[in-house]
Amino acid sequence: MKTTGNTILITGGATGIGLALAEAFLKAGNEVVICGRRTQRLLEAQSRLPEVHIKTCDVADAAERQALFDWTVANFRRLNILVNNAGIQRPLDFANNAVDLLNAGDAEVAINLQAPIQLSALFIPHLRTQAAAAIVNITSVLGFIPLATVPVYCATKAALHSFSWALRHQLRETSVKVFEVAPPVVDTELQAGVRSQKGSTAQGISPQVVAEATLQALAHDHYETAIGAARFLRWGARLAPQQLFKRINA
Ligand SMILES: NC(=O)c1ccc[n+]([C@@H]2O[C@H](COP(=O)([O-])OP(=O)(O)OC[C@H]3O[C@@H](n4cnc5c(N)ncnc54)[C@H](OP(=O)(O)O)[C@@H]3O)[C@@H](O)[C@H]2O)c1
Repeated sequence: MKTTGNTILITGGATGIGLALAEAFLKAGNEVVICGRRTQRLLEAQSRLPEVHIKTCDVADAAERQALFDWTVANFRRLNILVNNAGIQRPLDFANNAVDLLNAGDAEVAINLQAPIQLSALFIPHLRTQAAAAIVNITSVLGFIPLATVPVYCATKAALHSFSWALRHQLRETSVKVFEVAPPVVDTELQAGVRSQKGSTAQGISPQVVAEATLQALAHDHYETAIGAARFLRWGARLAPQQLFKRINA
């Protein structure tokens, strides 16, 4: 599909991969709307990218999702791409009081999985009115092989991979293409807590590399794209899952 002249909503677009996507899509000649919970971060993104449109929204909240949909289609009738990018990652130890941790703070299932499913359902009728449209789901290499310290995160990404596959099939006769982009470790705010907990200094690839690969995937109708090391890990997860699991969880 073409990567210029689109109108695009990116969830979680104020930082990291979402912000890099916003920048790359704007540079390529698209109209871009970003949303997130922290208005201050959205304003910072807008001062860096003056053409970007911003909307404060918690995509885990049903009423806020509906408000986001109503506002977006009212103001951007030509919206034709939804990028489900917002996500969080939490270390959770089920051998050590996971109930308390699960009940405290943000819910990964609601943000990483339920929100993309609900937003897809909300936006598909509108997207189908556009001559060419797309849903882009940002999954992860950890959907192929789990990192045991972040078990729920990995489960949400594996589920989003499965959902993307099925959704692509259901929409195959419509104008809506469904893309999945699975990055490896990326240098963003997402994993900072987990990395420092592990004493790791590896920062991963830059969000700009993910954005470039995403635009390439759209341009060439590559519906499932694993980026960089994620490509090898995807194959490794199929060929030698136990060895790979041991290695990344050593
Ligand atoms: N970094 C990696 O290594 C990596 C690897 C593979 C996949 N990914 C995926 O890439 C996506 C983007 O993550 P990132 O690495 O760019 O991390 P990030 O910089 O932390 O970005 C995540 C964004 O999501 C937003 N967000 C979180 N919860 C939200 C909610 N309930 N409603 C609306 N927005 C919400 C955050 O903004 P607010 O907090 O202001 O809402 C933030 O802007 C995620 O889906 C992540 O799983 C990341």
